Amino acid sequence: MSKSAPSFTCTACAASFRKWAGRCENCGAWNSIIEEAPLSSGPKAIGPRGRQIPLSDLATEEAPPPRAKSGMSELDLVLGGGLVPASAILVGGDPGIGKSTLLLQAAASFARQGVKCLYISGEEASAQVRMRAQRLGLADAPVQLGTETSLRDILTTLDAERPGLAIIDSIQTMWLDTVEAAPGSVSQVRAAAHELVNFAKRRGVAIIIVGHVTKEGQIAGPRVVEHMVDTVLYFEGERGHQFRILRAVKNRFGASDEIGVFEMTGQGLAEVTNPSALFLANRDAPAPGSAVFAGIEGTRPVLTEIQALVAPSPLGTPRRTVVGLDSGRLSTILAVLEARVGIPFTGLDVFLNVAGGMRVTEPAADLAVAAALLSAREDVAIPRDMVLFGEISLSGALRPVSQTENRLKEAAKLGFTQAALPKGSKPGAAIGLNLRGMADLAAFTGEMFGAG
Ligand code: TYD
Ligand code: MG
Repeated sequence: MSKSAPSFTCTACAASFRKWAGRCENCGAWNSIIEEAPLSSGPKAIGPRGRQIPLSDLATEEAPPPRAKSGMSELDLVLGGGLVPASAILVGGDPGIGKSTLLLQAAASFARQGVKCLYISGEEASAQVRMRAQRLGLADAPVQLGTETSLRDILTTLDAERPGLAIIDSIQTMWLDTVEAAPGSVSQVRAAAHELVNFAKRRGVAIIIVGHVTKEGQIAGPRVVEHMVDTVLYFEGERGHQFRILRAVKNRFGASDEIGVFEMTGQGLAEVTNPSALFLANRDAPAPGSAVFAGIEGTRPVLTEIQALVAPSPLGTPRRTVVGLDSGRLSTILAVLEARVGIPFTGLDVFLNVAGGMRVTEPAADLAVAAALLSAREDVAIPRDMVLFGEISLSGALRPVSQTENRLKEAAKLGFTQAALPKGSKPGAAIGLNLRGMADLAAFTGEMFGAG
């Protein structure tokens, strides 16, 4: 492509095109394509030869430096055991969810552990950040504060200061004078993130980049940033709930899908080190439509309550409303119940919800979802001391899932005494729970609710 050739980028999926179009060919979004300044022209000649070293030398030449712990155990867990020096981390989330609060607290924690921290806010004036710090009880934390949006100035500052950790809040406010586009546009976000990630690697400074999520659930120009960084964390929570979940969706230095749980209080975010207890707190008296799922989030077992409500529908097409679970999965489970067990939900509205604002993505939740649905439909409560897990196949069979033992141990710890699980599951050791293995959904329905 010649230097002057125009380039068009989809703001939803970051795909690039040579021509404008009303609809993105890649992701199907309408009106999302905008003209972008080209990144740069291709190389004009062959470059000099790069240096290589044998893989086996790496261990001796550059031993991995130790990770820095913040002392916030939930954050350290999600990072995969602490902050890796010279790494680049993206923290995404809805505006107002608490990213700035979380990262100011993280900066203070790291600083107190002896990591030199620089917090650069492009969104708030320093007085505002200081006020927030006071509210969080961090006014005396040894964190350096900057309010800059010019990336060139920021990089100069970072080069002079050489902190252990720099926080850039947010990437959408940063701009590079070499890119002719407004701050927040895909090309600015991409170029700014590229400069920051490069700097992190070259100068050994860990950088946390904050990014706001757009309505479609993506950070503006997000895909490109996601590819560049080592770790992508999402900070999420349901509106109206005080719980916040920091979820690793990509981590080069640890388990992805790891979650950290926080509670938003008047004095900032408090860590929730026992999420199962939290999600099951305030559980109502045994009521039809409630089932406790023994799940795994990352490396940690987490118990959640799945709630269902089934009611006659006045509509031609009954409602299927889902919060915290995949709606496609609900349709599949309803179809299996109808086709394999002979229990139809036609003419019935179905509402499904994960209590506490959690989001469950594991297929292992299938059995608990089916149990909640059946329990609501048949108006029969599931025993209060029972947990459930297992994947439902299209044939109606129950498939064993990973980490059976961990799930059961967590359930035992929280006082549960029985578990419904796939017949093929093999817990390694005696757990002290009454295990009720079921071969398929029909067997489960027969045992729990009498013959379908
Ligand atoms: P903020 O960190 O500014 O969100 P983001 O950076 O993701 O846009 O969080 C703002 C919200 O958090 C705001 O609605 C007020 C609330 N909040 C508390 O409830 N307690 C606190 O101690 C603080 C600092 C904020
Ligand atoms: Mg903010």
